[in-house]
Amino acid sequence: MPYYRKLGDVPRKRHTQFRRPDGGLFAEELMGIEGFSNDSALLYHRHLPTAIVAAEVHQEPSRTTRPNLPLLPRHLLTHKLDADGADAVTGRQLLLANPDVTLSYVVATRPSPLYRNAVGDELVYVESGTGVVETVFGALDVAAGDYVSIPTSTTHRWVPATEGGVSSAPLRLLVMEAGGHVGPPRRYLSGRGQFLEHSPYCERDLRAPELLLTVDEEQVDVLVRHRQGVTRYTYANHPFDVVGWDGCLYPSVFSIRDFEPITGRLHQPPPVHQTFEGPGFVVCSFVPRLFDYHPLSIPAPYNHSNVDSDEMIFYVGGDFMSRKGAGIEMGSITLHPSGFTHGPQPGSVEASIGAQRTEEYAVMVDTFRPLELGSAATACEDASYPWSWSGGARVAREIDGSDVG
Ligand SMILES: [Fe+2]
Repeated sequence: MPYYRKLGDVPRKRHTQFRRPDGGLFAEELMGIEGFSNDSALLYHRHLPTAIVAAEVHQEPSRTTRPNLPLLPRHLLTHKLDADGADAVTGRQLLLANPDVTLSYVVATRPSPLYRNAVGDELVYVESGTGVVETVFGALDVAAGDYVSIPTSTTHRWVPATEGGVSSAPLRLLVMEAGGHVGPPRRYLSGRGQFLEHSPYCERDLRAPELLLTVDEEQVDVLVRHRQGVTRYTYANHPFDVVGWDGCLYPSVFSIRDFEPITGRLHQPPPVHQTFEGPGFVVCSFVPRLFDYHPLSIPAPYNHSNVDSDEMIFYVGGDFMSRKGAGIEMGSITLHPSGFTHGPQPGSVEASIGAQRTEEYAVMVDTFRPLELGSAATACEDASYPWSWSGGARVAREIDGSDVG
């Protein structure tokens, strides 16, 4: 996020004396990606950000996955997943993963522990609910439709909104844990990182923390995800003790409702919907838009083979014209893997002709390596989906005693 921001108090010159009211020095912390060779921020803490008093392994539920075998399109009904009393960090239910990105779903009704992911950035899509993401950079209000970008190693926690101490509406989240850094598509940025004129969104659409948090507390636990697992550190002082920061690295929010769709006379390919890119994957936003306006245009997409990618779509709003008859509902996720040719459900191509616009919202994640299935995918799968293009009938065949239907 190379757009410079400053919040709170910072000294006139970096790396110079900056004193607390009691005469002691604030503790300066540089947080920079790719060592000291890329975007960074300087934060000023009341207490040492290095002072841990305990460390222990945190055992989390298994994150094992199984290959997508036999190779099938999948339909996951996320709203069938357990939603009791979870938080946005420890309540993640693993749907799909490969070495580049881990996708999980969570229904959060209570505040999460303090947490940071030292493996990569997290991009979290808020399907519904409201809340606050509290971070060392300050607080971010979040609501349905928001993409929340949390840079690698940003200490934060998720706090769902409450009324009278009770969760008012759970935060339903699709969590994308990347193996590196996530940002806007490079083709939309100038050489120095400014959004170009043909980008479907720009700096004015990004929200960043505007309120610093001051929590005076001792002996505070923080869960740290790293490549070997999760470790729980206990810090001498609460990490939310920053009096000011500046730089080009910070958490931010972009609402899918601020994505300006690119349309054309003929069907536009998915890259026009691209919103973010990460190592080994892209994220696209399908938003309300005018359909194609050539007099003979077909608004429904054509059948396609995503030769080099697996395609996951999370259906979050409106009416999904091309998927009629396949049981797609709000919160549905489809996975169309490389090697499987997919397209609109029978009848929807003809039915789309003459349609002027769509009101749909969907989030698509295309990965360049195959996605494997997590336990939550198995728990909420609609097993009839693979046969929905052929009328819903699965033909069981026996060859050498094995079922390969
Ligand atoms: Fe597709």
